[in-house]
Amino acid sequence: MRFGTVTLLHGLFLGPMAGYTDYAMRTVCREWGAEYLTGEMISAKAVCFGDSKTKALARIRTEELPCAIQIFGHEPAVMAEAARRLSCGVEGGVAPTAIDINMGCPVHKIAGSGDGSALMRDPRLVERIVAAVKEAVRLPVTVKIRAGWDANTVNAPEVARAAEAGGADMICVHGRTRSQKYAGKADYRVIAAVKRAVAVPVVGNGDVTSAEAARRLLDETGCDGIMVGRAAVGNPFLFSEIAAMLDGKEPPVITSGLRLETALRHLRLAVEDKGETTAVLECRKLLGAYFAGYRGGSAARAALNRAATAAEAEEILRGVFSTPAAEE
Ligand SMILES: Cc1cc2nc3c(=O)[nH]c(=O)nc-3n(C[C@H](O)[C@H](O)[C@H](O)COP(=O)(O)O)c2cc1C
Repeated sequence: MRFGTVTLLHGLFLGPMAGYTDYAMRTVCREWGAEYLTGEMISAKAVCFGDSKTKALARIRTEELPCAIQIFGHEPAVMAEAARRLSCGVEGGVAPTAIDINMGCPVHKIAGSGDGSALMRDPRLVERIVAAVKEAVRLPVTVKIRAGWDANTVNAPEVARAAEAGGADMICVHGRTRSQKYAGKADYRVIAAVKRAVAVPVVGNGDVTSAEAARRLLDETGCDGIMVGRAAVGNPFLFSEIAAMLDGKEPPVITSGLRLETALRHLRLAVEDKGETTAVLECRKLLGAYFAGYRGGSAARAALNRAATAAEAEEILRGVFSTPAAEE
């Protein structure tokens, strides 16, 4: 698939996930076949205030490209200014591939302020925001939407058309409404309807947990790309499994040794990015996901929650992956 200057062979996207898709997770997913990455969502207002934490969130390294930065907010002028500031890259990083606009976050703190999924209720505002951001930057501008606000207002095709009218270069649809949050099933019929409604590329998202699920998403929606969110946590291998399926090849064999090596690499990248103390603290939930289903997993997760150094975390990981027959 193609949009802007981006050309992707398999159309495999890692979904942005606040608190998860930092440099370490993005890099590990890239190494296992995620072709396009997006950072964690960033407040447009905070960018305009020059907040330093926000700058760290917006930092992208060369090897991550293509990688988008996602912003949230609802005021066209603020969104445009934030996009303009971020479009050249923050100190110590490179310019992002695209600016993505969050129109899907269901969390009350965000949607209650008119941001994220609340934008789904106002297609005219969607068009104005996209147009303002588009005007402010030379990069492709993409949007990530949901099926709608709730079951009675499933309007993703209308919102997608509004975004396209504003100049959006690509549209990603998570097939759940804001009311569903992350429960229930993603409705692929809505993604198919969005694909029929617009001419720009459409990326489908929701419940891709296996190569078979990715196949179903493509077949049922005709979408151009596949975005994987939660299933990539502790399982970046899924991207290579989907790529193999698309190439008509046998899936790679993911041994315990490979899982251990990848989890250790994840930890090392996090330490390099954030320093040991923060990395070990923030990595706990991510590292624990690498050994989901392994015998002794819950005890190891409890031990990880107490680990304070990278060496301790490494020892726990080595322990849980050490028995070849560990998988239940
Ligand atoms: C913990 C968590 C954080 C998320 N953060 C973001 C975010 O910052 N921006 C965004 O557009 N979507 C965010 N999402 C939504 C995911 O990108 C994705 O749309 C959703 O999880 C559905 O895809 P999946 O079924 O493959 O997980 C988040 C999801 C989770 C579970």
